Amino acid sequence: MDLSGKRILLIISGGIAAYKSLDLIRRLRERGATVRPAMTAAAQEFITPLAVGALASDHVYTDLFSREDEQDVGHIRLARDCDLVLVAPATADLMAKMAHGLADDLASAVLLATDRPVLIAPAMNPKMWTAAATQRNVKTLKADGVHFVGPTSGEMAEGNEAGLGRMAEPLDIVAAAIALLGEGERPLAGRTAIVTSGPTHEPIDPVRYIANRSSGRQGHAIAAALARLGADVTLVSGPVTIPDPAGVTTVHVERAEEMRDAVVSRLPADIAVMVAAVADWRVASSSGQKIKKQAGEAPAPLQLAENPDILKTVGHHEERPKLVVGFAAETQDVEKNGRAKLTRKGADLIVANDVSPGTGIMGGDRNRVKIISAAGIEEWPDLSKDEVAERLARLIAERLK
Ligand code: C5P
Repeated sequence: MDLSGKRILLIISGGIAAYKSLDLIRRLRERGATVRPAMTAAAQEFITPLAVGALASDHVYTDLFSREDEQDVGHIRLARDCDLVLVAPATADLMAKMAHGLADDLASAVLLATDRPVLIAPAMNPKMWTAAATQRNVKTLKADGVHFVGPTSGEMAEGNEAGLGRMAEPLDIVAAAIALLGEGERPLAGRTAIVTSGPTHEPIDPVRYIANRSSGRQGHAIAAALARLGADVTLVSGPVTIPDPAGVTTVHVERAEEMRDAVVSRLPADIAVMVAAVADWRVASSSGQKIKKQAGEAPAPLQLAENPDILKTVGHHEERPKLVVGFAAETQDVEKNGRAKLTRKGADLIVANDVSPGTGIMGGDRNRVKIISAAGIEEWPDLSKDEVAERLARLIAERLK
């Protein structure tokens, strides 16, 4: 097994074991991974960004406050545009910062911001490793879902001192990364998925349109989560300001009818997740010219026509995907309306959420959903949209087994 196509963000923190990270970069790349390196200030005392950058064939990220780096990628995207965050070596200091959520430099900020799996290879003096504070931090990090490889025991670099604290060998770190990212983690490999996301814009005339407050965050996160589980994902997105997710084919559309055509033309597929907040109505005959305000005249009334229901079209299509998932954004009777939608639209699952004013869900970062299926209702706790996406992708994989 290898790491082809895997994007690894390698954070190097400051310890003498950093010299082994140079070899680690080569071993990861030999197996097909792309390695994007980030270094703490202390790491740069042991090895140079020049050597790291040359071996990785990539820019080395070092500074949280570098205007160039922040504009280019930004620490939040750096934290997410990868399949794995690998910390090698992980010093006692960086582990302490991780355990406490400190974020005063690029490495710690990325580690706090990431929603990807994190694998760390601790390296430190045996006394530092067995220190009560470090052991408390290890426990915390494990409870937080951080994966460990090593440390191992043996001679320390300083000589005449031995014990547990040596960084795992590069090949063992590679093996741990493969185990984490291996096929077992890709239950949707070989499956195709279509996801819609964002609002639609329905033109009134060349400069005006009808829209809604959807940001596309939930739909984009679902497309990315399905791709992480191995699915071949096409995302059909309405106009949004967020970037296209990594590892996904994104098709940009504006109007509901364009979105419907883009979705239907990509059938058959195994999975359809219709998350877009499609406008229910469009302007019946939008004007080819900008509508002029006429002094003293009442505004021309807007005639609306119903838009195609994309979820319903897919749910009743002769090439209906095996699993059709819809969303139900409601402000009242969330459960009752969700159930009705399940049958009417021909969906297998409806993800229902309450978007009442004040919930902050529409356009926000978090979501609280109920999963409605023929079998019943499952209520999920308040989660980030990325966590909802991750759970939903796993549920989809489970249902397709
Ligand atoms: O009927 P309602 O708009 O509440 O249904 C929401 C669900 O239907 C969402 O999954 C949404 O993406 C989908 N939908 C659609 N096309 C429409 C309207 C809604 O695909 N025209």
